[in-house]
Amino acid sequence: MSKATLDQQAAPQVAKSVLEKQAWEALEQSIIYYQDRPVGTVAARDPELTALNYDQCFIRDFVSSALVFLIRGRTDIVRNFLEETLKLQPKKRQFDCSKPGRGLMPASFKVESSHGHERLKADFGEHAIARVAPVDSCLWWLILLRAYFKATHDEELVNRDDFQQGIRLIVELCLVARFDMYPTLLVPDGACMIDRRMGLYGHPLEIQSLFYAALRSAQELLLPTKHNRYFVDAVNSRLEPVTKHIRENYWLDTHRLNVIYRYKVEEYGEQALNQFNIYSDSIPFYQLTEWLPPEGGYLAGNLGPSQIDCRFFAVGNLMAVLSSLSSKEQSQGILQLIESRWEDLVGDMPMKLCYPALEDQGWKILTGCDPKNRPWSYHNGGSWPVLLWMLAAAAQKAGRPEIGKQALKIAERRLVEDEWPEYYDGKNGRLVGKEARRYQTWTIAGYLLAKELIQKPSNLSLICFEDLGII
Ligand code: GLC
Repeated sequence: MSKATLDQQAAPQVAKSVLEKQAWEALEQSIIYYQDRPVGTVAARDPELTALNYDQCFIRDFVSSALVFLIRGRTDIVRNFLEETLKLQPKKRQFDCSKPGRGLMPASFKVESSHGHERLKADFGEHAIARVAPVDSCLWWLILLRAYFKATHDEELVNRDDFQQGIRLIVELCLVARFDMYPTLLVPDGACMIDRRMGLYGHPLEIQSLFYAALRSAQELLLPTKHNRYFVDAVNSRLEPVTKHIRENYWLDTHRLNVIYRYKVEEYGEQALNQFNIYSDSIPFYQLTEWLPPEGGYLAGNLGPSQIDCRFFAVGNLMAVLSSLSSKEQSQGILQLIESRWEDLVGDMPMKLCYPALEDQGWKILTGCDPKNRPWSYHNGGSWPVLLWMLAAAAQKAGRPEIGKQALKIAERRLVEDEWPEYYDGKNGRLVGKEARRYQTWTIAGYLLAKELIQKPSNLSLICFEDLGII
């Protein structure tokens, strides 16, 4: 479809305010065309910084744009994106370590032209800084496919053989036997939105929340055919153990802290209470007992052998609320914590990707002295406006819509004036990020999406899941 046709189709309900109009126009300008069809959005359009790979379409970034497009009736761009990225997914099993594994989705792609011929070039991490393969891309892809289906009821697309196969390959990639015995997904550091070293290797919460939402999506989308039965059974039998594991072992509130504080260690066998052999000295009890409000709590950032990462990570917690990975009470607790610790987590720009920042030795050891991730900057305690939509959605879902509205009000004061930066620095998020790009697409889309979700909460169904009633 040509750009002109698309523009005519646009916007039965666009542009409700000047700010929204500007945001919508900026979002339209970020669209990438491939063989005259819109297939995605670039990560950023900063006229003053070298693009590096910000002129590419990142799968995770596009989800925010895609949800706005779905809500505003421009579903074809999402359909094109899903079709083209599906073609990039490797389908054959192979043993070559230089090739991406079967079922993986790329971090990003771009349109390459030579001799008048266009092709899509994918980056599975082999070009990315630090060469990390994105585990979250295939999970986001499945979540987006379900959102597309909910918005369009396009059975013809989802039931197509290539789409059913694509879903199966992702499920297989995630569920096939690995080197650990946890129900959660084992991944390397930097496998998600935080795509640099930040001490997230193992079982980071962000991946687990997306993993759970992706499994729920697969459960809804896989047809009950003979061929799919094995995969449907595998998905069904994984949901309960993941849910219980996260709800029981990742949850931190004052009560849990008391239990962990008095844990016995070196316990062997099935009766062990301290199953992961957490040593009390590894936990900053005194900071945490002060920081945790009496009523609130959150899911820890990571859990592994002798490790609980007690940092608060926004994507993992907010996506746990949206996907119903956290229980209803826990979801309330997460929103309560955000409200009680507003200055720390929201401050002058919603919201912190991670809290608190790693400092001193922690920063040196865990980030490898990464200057971009110095304390209170970028991934390490920086504030990311894209999170606005997840916050607004989670607040709405947990019955606390005023939290989303308040966050939106705060963001609106700055975003246009600052030209839609990628992130903000400082404890209160008052500084435009040192290396932040302007006209960052998911900042723009995140704002529009938050607005749409607040104005019309029924849109939440695109991205939310009902609780399965697992206790
Ligand atoms: C940065 C972010 C990553 C994002 C990319 C493009 O690398 O860490 O999550 O996808 O920029 O915006």
